[in-house]
Amino acid sequence: MDEEVENREAPIGIFDSGVGGLTVFRAIERQLPNESLIYLGDTARIPYGTRSVATVERYALQVAAFIESKDVKAIAIACNTASALAADRLARQCSVPVISVIKPGARLAVRSTRNGHIGVIATEATVASRAYEREMLEQRDGLEIISRACPLFVPLAEEGWTDHPVTRQVAEEYLAEMRASRVDTLVLGCTHYPILRPVIERVLGDRITYIDSGEAMAGEVARLLEERDLARRGREARFERFYVTDYAARFRRVAELFLGRPLESVEVVELGVG
Ligand code: DGL
Repeated sequence: MDEEVENREAPIGIFDSGVGGLTVFRAIERQLPNESLIYLGDTARIPYGTRSVATVERYALQVAAFIESKDVKAIAIACNTASALAADRLARQCSVPVISVIKPGARLAVRSTRNGHIGVIATEATVASRAYEREMLEQRDGLEIISRACPLFVPLAEEGWTDHPVTRQVAEEYLAEMRASRVDTLVLGCTHYPILRPVIERVLGDRITYIDSGEAMAGEVARLLEERDLARRGREARFERFYVTDYAARFRRVAELFLGRPLESVEVVELGVG
């Protein structure tokens, strides 16, 4: 196979700290049904969102090195925290294009707002990084942006409690300020949050436009593949592989629930020490 064809046939690598990145996986699978996909959930070290920049960078570099060893043609960072804290490092370090989830989501939010009031819910680390604010204010001056960290959403999503009274109570608490504000557009700035979208929508109602950064990212991945002539053209069946760093059965349970189909295999792998 010549090198160009080999590149087009190669899979896209997607990673997150856990099941959250499956919201991106699903969006990419829908928009690019011909592409082979590799997914890694760093389940041994979740959550990323309460850790320091240095730690998230180290984790993200180790994950990216593993994914690159699978000969991918691009890496989608399906984790807002890793995108906010480590995307530049990864882009410098990796030999394939690296796509962050922040930019496409921020751009879509700015296009969607009618009154210039945008809310961002994300992990503590993403909120502290101000990555969304920076990106959005670069697109348009004078936006009013409210950000709120919702750390308990991550374990609730990992637990598959998508419509549980406890999740509703937590959402009421976290989202009270958003509900009282003039926000007309809300960025679900953590890839775990779209899993809880029904609960979030129930609390905030339908006057708000919800931005699923994973959906926006899938469009960005499709554009990049076209631009670089990397889109797969092969007729053979695509493949998908799932890797985790711990406890495959738990990941499989929630992933199958979320994707609505059985997974062929979920392999536990060990990354660099740390
Ligand atoms: N899903 C991830 C994100 O988008 C991180 C969740 C976590 O590990 O804290 O930020």
